[in-house]
Amino acid sequence: MTDATVKMDAPFPASLLDSAPAPTVGTAQPRIDGPRKVSGTARYAAEHFPEGLAHGVLLRAPIGCGRITGVDAEAALAMPGVLALIRDERLIRNGGDFAGAAAPVQGVDEVAYFGQPIGVVVADSPERARAAALSVKVTYEAAPGVFDMEAARGTALPPTDDIYGLFLIHTEQGDVDRTAHEAAALVDAVWRTPSQSHAAMEPHASVAVWQDGRLTLHASYQSPVVTRDQLATVMGLQPSEVRILSPFVGGGFGGKLGVMPEAVAAAIAARHLGRPVKVVMTRQQVFETTGRRPMTHQRVRLAADAAGRLTVLQHETITDQLAGEVFFEPAGLATHLLYAGENRLVDHKVVRTNKLLGVSMRAPGEAIGQLALECAMDELAEALDLDPIELRLRNEPERHPELGIPFSSRALVDCLRHGADRFGWASRNRVPGGLRDGEWLVGHGMAAAARGNLFGPSRARVRIDAGGRVMVETEMTDIGTGTYTVLAQIAADLLGVPLARVEVRLGDTDDPASAGSGGSWGAATSGSAVYAACAELRARLAAAAGLPADTLTFADGMVTASGFRRPIAELVGDGLSVEGSVQPGESNSRFNQTSYGAHFCEVRVHAVTGELRVARWNSVFAAGRILNRQTATSQAIGGVVFGIGGALTEELVHDPRSGKVVNRDLGEYHVPVHADIPPIDVHFLEERDPVANPLLAKGVGELGVCGSGAAVANAVYNATGVRVRDFPITLDKVL
Ligand code: MOS
Repeated sequence: MTDATVKMDAPFPASLLDSAPAPTVGTAQPRIDGPRKVSGTARYAAEHFPEGLAHGVLLRAPIGCGRITGVDAEAALAMPGVLALIRDERLIRNGGDFAGAAAPVQGVDEVAYFGQPIGVVVADSPERARAAALSVKVTYEAAPGVFDMEAARGTALPPTDDIYGLFLIHTEQGDVDRTAHEAAALVDAVWRTPSQSHAAMEPHASVAVWQDGRLTLHASYQSPVVTRDQLATVMGLQPSEVRILSPFVGGGFGGKLGVMPEAVAAAIAARHLGRPVKVVMTRQQVFETTGRRPMTHQRVRLAADAAGRLTVLQHETITDQLAGEVFFEPAGLATHLLYAGENRLVDHKVVRTNKLLGVSMRAPGEAIGQLALECAMDELAEALDLDPIELRLRNEPERHPELGIPFSSRALVDCLRHGADRFGWASRNRVPGGLRDGEWLVGHGMAAAARGNLFGPSRARVRIDAGGRVMVETEMTDIGTGTYTVLAQIAADLLGVPLARVEVRLGDTDDPASAGSGGSWGAATSGSAVYAACAELRARLAAAAGLPADTLTFADGMVTASGFRRPIAELVGDGLSVEGSVQPGESNSRFNQTSYGAHFCEVRVHAVTGELRVARWNSVFAAGRILNRQTATSQAIGGVVFGIGGALTEELVHDPRSGKVVNRDLGEYHVPVHADIPPIDVHFLEERDPVANPLLAKGVGELGVCGSGAAVANAVYNATGVRVRDFPITLDKVL
């Protein structure tokens, strides 16, 4: 039952957060879950050991396309401690994060990609299960698959579905061809980005326990309700017969949005054996058998008149995905709205390949789309002999350039100006390849950042007990982002209790459902649900006090008005409990809601070896109210590091004969390490978004990854005079 619902219909009245006398929201607060994490008492999925636990290891397809013709497990099953080899239609494949509650689509013998699960081997220890899985003999008939997206580009077709209407598959206005031919300056080139892995620190892990016909899964998922519904469909259960617990998640980045094979395998095996089963993926399995960011081939054509005004913006993306899947990488997302210009064309097409499922990865579309767009802007600025910031200033739109609707808030220009100041852009190197420091070539680059602000329905329960302690309960997760802390801050400020008096419980599908952690919407959506619950609690406390709610002040555990001062605990009786709910409303279609930023960096390239080093970094962001300066800064830094990885090192390499991922661990899939990253200066502008939600906040989590890779690439060009459009920019490409 929901006690208070807020619809996102702007404008919001003054946010109640602004009435807190000593606010914690907006300040830097360390994570309230930090002590549990560093002391090892925060228990992650794989750290559950229920009585009678058995261990499953996924058996995976050794071909990229074809049929399994035989599975000989005789020797494996005779090994000590081995309990079963289970092959089951339901095991085969997850439906991806945008598949709703859809069940897997393939048969157990049909293979669509290398590493696809074709069974699960269960034993009484993980080592025995692994040894047995390695002893299973699989025979097969390989079929010719499609493993090379570039070679198959001619087969590209539009995506089957504009997922939730979010991604604007194809938009077109004016005449891009004719205008491009008349332009004073033109850039027309192709940028390529490879498959990437989310590479979360914690691999996927599930522990399945059946009790009285109900399945409990200790697992690592970003949106446990979505995963619960998918798993229920796969298992032929009602959602109420499945409970997923994900109180701690060691990183997700989109790779833990949809149900993954380890969850299905654990559930099936536990039911089959009548005892709990744990399935933990190895890093290799995460790379081969979960999901990846699809690769892209992006043609960007930009044209401008002599005054530096964009006349053509064209961005055509070809990406790859398994047959039958709806998700596609929407690389043109930001191109719809970042700059003004009359003649526009944004398009997406998909080549169906036999490679690991493509799923959302941190800032799907925007992260790698802005890699191409913001590099193209740099090239255009050079063609016009214009400062790249000035080019952006001259093309700042007043409204959404395609839809004509207003922006809810847009501080891109301020981000560019502040960032330029903080970095010292005025004294940058102006001659590509012209600045040397000993054997190092030094270059400076910048790029803009934009990430759409999304909203999903969310619920949260807030209770005040008889002692005045506050408990927040929602199925929402904390994937490392700071959710525990941010939700506690909102409740603490709105109810006027110290932060230490607030407890937060997350990641249990038996609690009120949220929109989960994804798409940078987590803090604002679940925070708004907490806000709705707290606003209703204030009304109830006011009723108990016999005073109008707007005359009361909530602070220091006291409820105060003129001539009135009582501890909150005295007004709650045996306790109060309210469930708050937020729903998308008119504001979500009447305004474009986007967070913005600007990145500036210095790159050093060794003139002899080509070694690339990022030496200096400044980013400025505007994302509405910043709820927690510390956790938001950490998100922004993490995003920038993600962008640097995308620019310089990250690539899942597929064997062209089978699609198999050949770099199988973090020793070969290179994410930046501390030694690769300079101090990153992050600055948030003061901003309130008047229409996004009652917190007046926009998303932060994925903003840092947008544009940051382009700043690196532009700095590499500035250092070396070499434009690399084929990512990652490894040293062989600049020599
Ligand atoms: Mo994000 S890719 O929606 O977890």
